[in-house]
Amino acid sequence: MTENEFIPTRYTAKIESGTVTYRSPSNIALVKYWGKREIQIPENPSISFTLNACATTTTVTFRAKKNTSDSFSFDFLFEGQPKNSFKPKILVFMQRIEKYLPFLKEYHFTIASNNSFPHSSGIASSASGMSALALCFMDIEKRLNPNMTESYFTMKASFLARLGSGSACRSIEGDLVQWGEHQGTTGSSDLYGIKYPYKVHEVFRNYHDTILLIDKGEKQVSSTLGHDLMHSNVYAETRFNQAHENLSKLKTVFAIGDLKSFITIVESEALTLHAMMMTSIPYFVLMKPKTLEVINEIWAFRESSKSNICFTLDAGANVHVLYPEKEKDIIYPFIKEKLVPYCQNGAHITDRIGFGAKKGVL
Ligand code: PMV
Repeated sequence: MTENEFIPTRYTAKIESGTVTYRSPSNIALVKYWGKREIQIPENPSISFTLNACATTTTVTFRAKKNTSDSFSFDFLFEGQPKNSFKPKILVFMQRIEKYLPFLKEYHFTIASNNSFPHSSGIASSASGMSALALCFMDIEKRLNPNMTESYFTMKASFLARLGSGSACRSIEGDLVQWGEHQGTTGSSDLYGIKYPYKVHEVFRNYHDTILLIDKGEKQVSSTLGHDLMHSNVYAETRFNQAHENLSKLKTVFAIGDLKSFITIVESEALTLHAMMMTSIPYFVLMKPKTLEVINEIWAFRESSKSNICFTLDAGANVHVLYPEKEKDIIYPFIKEKLVPYCQNGAHITDRIGFGAKKGVL
């Protein structure tokens, strides 16, 4: 699909008003997206586990404007309260996607969002938030064009979500989603995420992600700025090539359930992401001392228990602890006893692989 194929030609139905709700999950990248070109085109392909517990639920209520004006009209509520500080981000999103959803200026929207995870937990809500909103808008478009196919709906929802926040395009479906052109992956695209099309061994089914909230503070450097700094990072090209290679290697790893190689790739990806931050100019560090202490605890426990516990990081200090379902009885007690004490007030979220967004869940 090309960008132009997402521009609708004509709507066949008319609709005055309505309401729609979507619950959309967060996701955790195994091969990281870090570095992009305009507009939200990734410098390298990435792949993620869709999560289940960490999610945003968004309800969009819409009514046709009496006089169509040339501006967007919407209210935004977060956890029941008006939140004007978030409106500029939504406005930029609407401006970017209007070309693909020409009805946006014809309605007034009330957008009400709730997160399942605690506010300011350091968990990025842009992936779940932007994908939930993209899905609500797509649902409205489907009412205006009832012949739309399910596959077009899903693809376009991911395409629109990407324009809100890159990683959001990996939150529409589950349980493994790839985004970004990769030679070895048929159907992969820079424009939207696709459900991983190859064989995945059952050991990855129901994979766990216990998220340790090490630091709930505001990040000193936004991911927008972090992506930008990759333009001048001297290691950028090598890094982008590495992501391609890691995706190629994962094909066999997923097929045969090679957990040892999975761990090496996933932990290396997390550390490379942070190495890119440390080697940008200006450089920055988002890990905290406790992040490193937790990593060392995980390595020591992996050695002594011979288990397949591993970690990944996103652009922050929190640690995602990944492990297979069949090892949860030895790994989760270790997490509770040894790792949770590193968390701020013991805060952690027990999540696992999920199957994508769902309609109508309030
Ligand atoms: O979607 P953004 O612009 O917030 O970037 C997310 C980047 C990482 O979370 C660090 C990696 C990824 O692939 O999700």
